[in-house]
Amino acid sequence: MSTQTILIRGSHRLRSLLIPAAGLTLALAPGSFALPDSATLTVRVDQPGPRIDPIFYGLMTEEINYSYDGGLYGELIRNRIFQDQPIVPRGPRPAAANPAGAQAGAQAAAPTPAANPAVAKNPNLINWWLVAGPGAAGDIDIDTHDPVNTTALKNSLKLDIKSAGAGRRVGVANDGYWGIPVKPNTVYTASFYARAGQGFKGPLNVAIEGSKTGTVYASGQVRALTQAWKKYTLKIRTGQVQATTDARFVLSSTNQGSLWFSLVSLFRPTYRNRPNGNRIDIMEKLADMKPSFLRFPGGNYLEGRDFENRFNWKATIGPLEERPGHMSPWSYRSTDGLGLLEFLYWCEDLNMEPIVGVYAGLHLDQGRTTITGDALKPYLEEALEEIEYITGSTSTKWGALRARQGHPAPFRLRYVEIGNEDWLNNGLQNYAGRFAMFYDAIKARYPDLQVISSLRSRDKYDHTRKPDLLDDHFYVSIPTALAQAHYYDNYDRAGTKIFVGEWATNNPRGGPTGHMAFALGDAAWLTGLERNADIVVMNCYAPLFCNVNPGGMQWSINLIGYDALGSFGSPAYFVQKMFSNNRGDVVLATRLDPLPKLNAEQIPQAPVPPGGRGGGSAGPAGPFDAVYATASRENSTGNIILKLVNVQAVPQPLKIDLQGAEMVAKEAKGEVLAAEPAAINSVAEPVRVAPRPVTIANAGLSFTHELPAHSVTVLRLKTR
Ligand code: AHR
Repeated sequence: MSTQTILIRGSHRLRSLLIPAAGLTLALAPGSFALPDSATLTVRVDQPGPRIDPIFYGLMTEEINYSYDGGLYGELIRNRIFQDQPIVPRGPRPAAANPAGAQAGAQAAAPTPAANPAVAKNPNLINWWLVAGPGAAGDIDIDTHDPVNTTALKNSLKLDIKSAGAGRRVGVANDGYWGIPVKPNTVYTASFYARAGQGFKGPLNVAIEGSKTGTVYASGQVRALTQAWKKYTLKIRTGQVQATTDARFVLSSTNQGSLWFSLVSLFRPTYRNRPNGNRIDIMEKLADMKPSFLRFPGGNYLEGRDFENRFNWKATIGPLEERPGHMSPWSYRSTDGLGLLEFLYWCEDLNMEPIVGVYAGLHLDQGRTTITGDALKPYLEEALEEIEYITGSTSTKWGALRARQGHPAPFRLRYVEIGNEDWLNNGLQNYAGRFAMFYDAIKARYPDLQVISSLRSRDKYDHTRKPDLLDDHFYVSIPTALAQAHYYDNYDRAGTKIFVGEWATNNPRGGPTGHMAFALGDAAWLTGLERNADIVVMNCYAPLFCNVNPGGMQWSINLIGYDALGSFGSPAYFVQKMFSNNRGDVVLATRLDPLPKLNAEQIPQAPVPPGGRGGGSAGPAGPFDAVYATASRENSTGNIILKLVNVQAVPQPLKIDLQGAEMVAKEAKGEVLAAEPAAINSVAEPVRVAPRPVTIANAGLSFTHELPAHSVTVLRLKTR
């Protein structure tokens, strides 16, 4: 007989009822579960503690998991300048070399691409297909003669239309990043360079079409092409169509001749209508988090696999025609269409401060090609120029260039980080010298800038120059996240302040986004960061994005997932949103008594993916705290903000005492995120796990409140 167990409480002791699934006969099995005793949360409202820096919650980003190309960046054409190649899956470094990182070398298997005869002829034709129906004939190839330019656009695509006519078109199609997203009543901006051979009469048809169906969703036409390169731009509009990703972009003609194309682009509508801008749905999700800063361009994307593929900021600015792109360390080519100025626009659009990582000579190659000493000086100069590009007035060389490129006003910049994770790749051997060079030069020219070391506090490294901040990174299992909620409790209060520049509760062999179990680990950990706001200045989860299509993921457990059409926040995203939207200005001391405890078996577990392992399996043995709490005061409203995390499978009764408060209103509002540890969101079910609003009517100087099982609660208590 299958049974279902429900929990009831009497005098704060739990009894269980076994209910036969098929009937209503009840069998009482008293005392088989113990309801946690009520605990008392004391909040010292009269003892304001450390100030929470207004910059405390932000975002970290890099090109990984198709974050920009195939993600945030509004471009829909994949391999638009014909320099991509079929993907060779490979992470940035072998697993053994990544002690912090759970995920070194982790790769989702790239799908075997459908056989494309064009790619067999030339690998640079990846994602481009010849279109020739019955009775039509043609050919496509890469042509390096007479390109638009020899820097970025050295390859063009040549289309030979050999046999065509009415109803017998020949063309070339691009299948985008796992399909071109078709939405109803939407205007797309198509653009490309084209030239025609002698005798081609035109017209050229431009369309978004169903890949399998051939349905034309949006179309336009260029009447004639010139024999010299010319840029064409068209707006094409869908009607009242069904949304789909089963679509491709097609350039075709029914007339014979040879045509060449370069920089073929199709943009979806962008956030705030920025040209070359970002996808709206994902930007809106970020805006909802109210982040204070953006750490960019990485991550490993800053360092690159080698010197040629570092984040070379100068190659990421200016017209797209001059951006060759480069290999991201995560196996695929980056267009650099989302370059330095676009990162800054992204900051501007979401009211975030940039936290800029500058290249400092290290690559992801175990130190084989690290640049040091005098050889590093040109790149130090490049970093100074980068800072001038961001912050300089129009009377400076690089500030003037920024103005010519569209943004005369300088951007606000307070923090610069020197490299990324220099504790890896044998970076420790020479970081002292490299850091000192950058520190001295930056402080000399920009004394107000805060200089962040990419080393962690636990490296206990002798820097020779005292960094303003250290960048601690943590990718940890669920038990470790719970235990590390106390990580900074015993940190030297006179020690260097901390930027937690990458962190997540994760599982190196998980899926693109995490389950509720991971979000509980995150929330517990965040209470520890907030309580230690005197040490921790700011923090950001990583990675931020993942394209959930097969082959889109290089790093498992990311904050926001998407395909070409839809996006969703993971449960961890909602934790971030809840915490960031309810920050407070000053920490208030809290004490839980008695402190409920869990053993290792009671820790919430995420399901084990095929071939993977659960996020709860590795870590300290316990016991672990079962409840985590932090409290703060918001100066503008006087509100007391409580953040409460219950990682137990049973509700936790709490008595909440607000010591030193003069008045607390009876009604309090907040949000609660509660779900089974295995619950997860997806494109199809984006808000299966999402916070719900709560209103309580019994708040006061001392009141009781029950935390649901597996939950994160934020309460705002009014004191005015
Ligand atoms: O966030 C993924 C990677 O983890 C980053 O690129 C790197 O800095 C860290 O090792």
